Amino acid sequence: MEAVAEAIKFNPYEPGYFENPYPFYQRLRENDPVHKSFMGTWILTRNKDVSELLSDPVLSSDLRNWNGFEKRYKNKELVAWMLNRSVLNIDPPEHTSLRSYLKKSFMPKALNDLSEAIEGIVEDQIQKLKGKKEAELISEFALPVPLGTINYIFDIPEPDQKQVKAWSSNISGLIEPLPNIQALKTANQSIIDFTAYLKARIKERKGKPSNDFISNILNTPIDQLIAEDDYVIPNLIVMFAAAHETIVNLIGNGMYALLNHPDQMELLREQPELIGSAIEEMLRYDSPQQLVWRAVLEDTTLAGQDFKKGEQLMLLLGAANFDPEAFPDPYRFDIQRTPNKHLSFGKGRHTCMGSWMARMEGKLAIPALIKHFPNMKLEETEWLTNLSFRGLKTMKVSL
Ligand code: HEM
Repeated sequence: MEAVAEAIKFNPYEPGYFENPYPFYQRLRENDPVHKSFMGTWILTRNKDVSELLSDPVLSSDLRNWNGFEKRYKNKELVAWMLNRSVLNIDPPEHTSLRSYLKKSFMPKALNDLSEAIEGIVEDQIQKLKGKKEAELISEFALPVPLGTINYIFDIPEPDQKQVKAWSSNISGLIEPLPNIQALKTANQSIIDFTAYLKARIKERKGKPSNDFISNILNTPIDQLIAEDDYVIPNLIVMFAAAHETIVNLIGNGMYALLNHPDQMELLREQPELIGSAIEEMLRYDSPQQLVWRAVLEDTTLAGQDFKKGEQLMLLLGAANFDPEAFPDPYRFDIQRTPNKHLSFGKGRHTCMGSWMARMEGKLAIPALIKHFPNMKLEETEWLTNLSFRGLKTMKVSL
């Protein structure tokens, strides 16, 4: 009995976890699908539960409703300020107003000429790789494409781009369920610096509007509920990070899956029109975002388990995407899989606002790579050790 209990503990420190977490998720789903982890957080792994709970109003995205919030963010007022205003981490009615405000200012403008801009960025990166024998695909392709795209949308001048990326990455570390003290400190300082930077850009745009997201957001009427001073900057930061910290891993994980499945690579080469369903399968098979958090608003029973107000739930999207109840033969990478209702963009009121952009970038970037480098081979890889964002730290290939 004890051996079984031992075997089903959620333990990301077990060897091999970050290389391939899916068998670990499977063990949980089969033995303890609503699992109380060592962190005190409940971990849910069944597709049906995750899918239903993503839309359940008894669960809050506002971390202040989690009973561990005070302790985690003690003396980190800025981190708390940032999180409490991010569209990701608030509930209605503020969430409804903020989401609509961001949607109005972000989507239509960006769509106009974006695909042409992305094509240019992809082409530049391809040209830089041409003539090389080997490459590190994350830093030389998978990251520059989404980073170039979001720099274009925000109109960040070239000399500032490196610094802005560094602040953004430091702040994104907050999404991790187990950030360490140093990571919180660094995030705190990066919020101060990035905020000052964005304030200066806003001031500039007020005097001289440009064609970018910052100018757009200033021209969009704002609801009283989400007063400008409080909400605009945290969400500019969120959008900047969300737009590249995830797509880098769609491209990286997607290429990794294709290179490990030569038959599927061949099929995509022969039938490039399959790229749409191939991107959906890449998202399912190795989701760039593995989990979301929620806090319980009142004592309740969900997925057959009693929960207390203030408890925290981790909904494992990556595990839900491998549940055989929803996806027959889930370990098979099949670029023609239909239906493919993966949960990689979440579901319900917090569904990803940038899924269209992720799909657009994936569809432009991946076919270009496989067309120009038909002999590409995986040489050496190293995975990030993040619970939330899943991706490769480095991916060496021969070209
Ligand atoms: C492959 C790429 C991406 C993946 C896998 C992904 C995944 C997700 C997931 C799972 C959520 C739901 C979070 C929750 O329920 O708590 C989410 C929300 C969000 N995503 Fe994405 N995302 C991607 C790309 C993007 C891009 C490109 C942008 C922006 C341009 C973006 C902006 C957002 C925003 C603003 C939210 C919050 C929406 C809300 O809370 O109402 N994402 N994303």
